[in-house]
Amino acid sequence: MCSGSGLILGIESSCDETAAAVVHTGVEVLANVVASQMALHAKYGGVVPELASREHLRNIVPVVRAAMAEAGLEFADLDAIAVTEGPGLAGALLVGITYAKALALGLGKPLIAVNHLEGHIHAVLMEARQRQEAMEMPMLALVVSGGHTHLYLAEKPDVPGGGEGRTTEILSEAQNDELKGSGHGVWRYRNVGRTVDDAAGEAFDKVAKLLGLGYPGGPWMDALAKKGNPRAVEFKFGQIKTRRVPRNENPTHDGETVMNGAPNPTLSAEDAERMGHPIPPKQNLDGAPDSEVSFDFSFSGIKTAVLRYIQGHGMGAGVEARRKVLAEALRANPAMKAAEALQEMPEVFDAQTLDLIASFQHAVVGNLMRQTFAAAEALGARGIVVSGGVSANSELRRRFADEAAQRGLRVAFPTMAMSTDNAAMIAAAAWGKFCAGEFAAEGLVATPQLKLGS
Ligand code: KG4
Ligand code: ZN
Repeated sequence: MCSGSGLILGIESSCDETAAAVVHTGVEVLANVVASQMALHAKYGGVVPELASREHLRNIVPVVRAAMAEAGLEFADLDAIAVTEGPGLAGALLVGITYAKALALGLGKPLIAVNHLEGHIHAVLMEARQRQEAMEMPMLALVVSGGHTHLYLAEKPDVPGGGEGRTTEILSEAQNDELKGSGHGVWRYRNVGRTVDDAAGEAFDKVAKLLGLGYPGGPWMDALAKKGNPRAVEFKFGQIKTRRVPRNENPTHDGETVMNGAPNPTLSAEDAERMGHPIPPKQNLDGAPDSEVSFDFSFSGIKTAVLRYIQGHGMGAGVEARRKVLAEALRANPAMKAAEALQEMPEVFDAQTLDLIASFQHAVVGNLMRQTFAAAEALGARGIVVSGGVSANSELRRRFADEAAQRGLRVAFPTMAMSTDNAAMIAAAAWGKFCAGEFAAEGLVATPQLKLGS
């Protein structure tokens, strides 16, 4: 053991969930409490930052108390307090950070700052540890949520017996003792891809809104896509080339993105599905050395394409009728899910709309797959982790699993409860930092644009 009780209290308040959890040695979840504000923001069709901060303020104390009670612990039992430092909404992050700082100071316990995106990755790693599964290194992580679409190459460098293709994660107590203070547990991340405009979840939400569906749109689209024809409408993704300016030469500017607006016939949704032609990095990235390759995403074009399709096919009146009917039904039953709506009012979901939804989802998932597997191949990743809210998508899970099996790669997803925002993932990500003695400075502040890795 690294020392102490192994118990870390995690606190998460970066967006619209106030969450607290107690996790033992980054593996066992003793308590996991999430107060969701979804219903509050649903009527505005998106998260309202001022309301989110106020709600966090109201919830933070009862949520932490509930987590401690659920774990059956006193504050004195804890080794450390971990909190999300960013990225996220400034006011929302501030509530969690201020409370965590005060708690740590009052208790005389260390405070650990965690990047929210690292938390999403550790949600999967924590569950792999629970199943006693080792993840193979290097690992490629796709973090795909309402605010983020990022690809990271992740490694834990100082595992004993390290080297190409080693596995990690499950260490004996002796190994843990040996590694204490040596930097063990501090993962390294290289950001090898990111969205240049909208996040994938944001595209799901915006398209759902264009179609008059409920909020958040992802789960609605997922359920309705099952009833449509994914090949009815062909969406294409334009090619994106990103050249990175090496950081040490120009630290204020980390890249220049060149959008090639012309649809590239090799990048149709169907090709994405076949996955037969991953991008050879050296050809497509202008001969950039491996350390500078990137695999970027863009989702604003497909959102516009859906809007044009709706306008061009006279679907506007149908959308407005559906918006009205669903708004009324959601007022009566705010927790209503798409499956229920489909069953109770099938007439609201015409075949053309269902086909459009299925085709949109098919194209987005195909694009996420194409970039992820191309990056995995180019960078020699031996395992893939997909996390964040969109990783709950059923088509995404099925197609990623099939493709990974064909390529002999391991792919891991979080359970549904761990795919959306929670604090167990924050406490789990903090464990390695605790072992390494990587504590936050007293002056820790919220960092809304916090980056992960290099
Ligand atoms: O990780 P998360 O809970 O919060 C952020 O950090 O953004 O992700 C929320 C996002 C929303 O955009 C939501 O529509 C999307 O995840 N989402 C889904 C599904 N479930 C949630 N998108 C597609 N299919 C789903 N089943
Ligand atoms: Zn998140």
